[in-house]
Amino acid sequence: MLAAPVMRIDVLTIFPEFFGQVFDFGIIRRARKADIVQINVIDIRDFAVDKHKMTDDRPFGGGDGMVMKPEPIFAAVEHLLGTTEREKYPAGSRVILLSPQGEQFRQETAKRFAEDAEHIVMICGRYEGVDERVNETLVTDEISIGDYVLSGGEPAAIVLTDAVVRLLPDALGSETSAENDSFSSGLLDCPHYTRPAEFMGRRVPDVLLNGNHAEIEKWRHEKALEKTKRNRPDLLKGETGESG
Ligand code: ADE
Repeated sequence: MLAAPVMRIDVLTIFPEFFGQVFDFGIIRRARKADIVQINVIDIRDFAVDKHKMTDDRPFGGGDGMVMKPEPIFAAVEHLLGTTEREKYPAGSRVILLSPQGEQFRQETAKRFAEDAEHIVMICGRYEGVDERVNETLVTDEISIGDYVLSGGEPAAIVLTDAVVRLLPDALGSETSAENDSFSSGLLDCPHYTRPAEFMGRRVPDVLLNGNHAEIEKWRHEKALEKTKRNRPDLLKGETGESG
């Protein structure tokens, strides 16, 4: 008997074509082929209840734009998880709503999902948003990928999927790759160089060529610290005792 994938991800969207081949490359493709993850893109419209297959409607109280209707989303989640009561979801299930109002997605969030979740259902919001009863009843985590507004949750679902799948056991070729990623250590990643050792008059730092691993590690840490100070000083606040 084939072992079940470590994780299943179902993406609910009104634009399934948006995802095209996005999960067919690199680490995600390998993880799918190795049955580490199964990813399904599901059209919310398939669960629409009326004859026009409507997935959105005007907001109560007036105002601009449209709101995604609750019925098709409830039907899709019931189909996938067997219930629309959050408390009764099978163990290891999460229903994530991608929205700019969500909790900020971070490396530690990706780690939590990779470690705890077995089945993730992502709901891609569109228009002015999603009927709040979806949030009140179905959603276990409302997630934003940053302080900017996208046209829909689809790019965010791709970001989450990528960040989570690469952390699943055996998804990366080398065990140490994820540990050295930016943010895992609290610092940004250090700079990297490859051949040629000299390019357009610029030489690779000598320390990387001399084979002294202790010195290389020390240099990498210093450079990671420098880069973090320059590009993301906010990450260092705890470490240096600065306030604010
Ligand atoms: N939908 C629109 N903007 C978004 C954001 N910043 N994060 C997640 N989903 C979104």
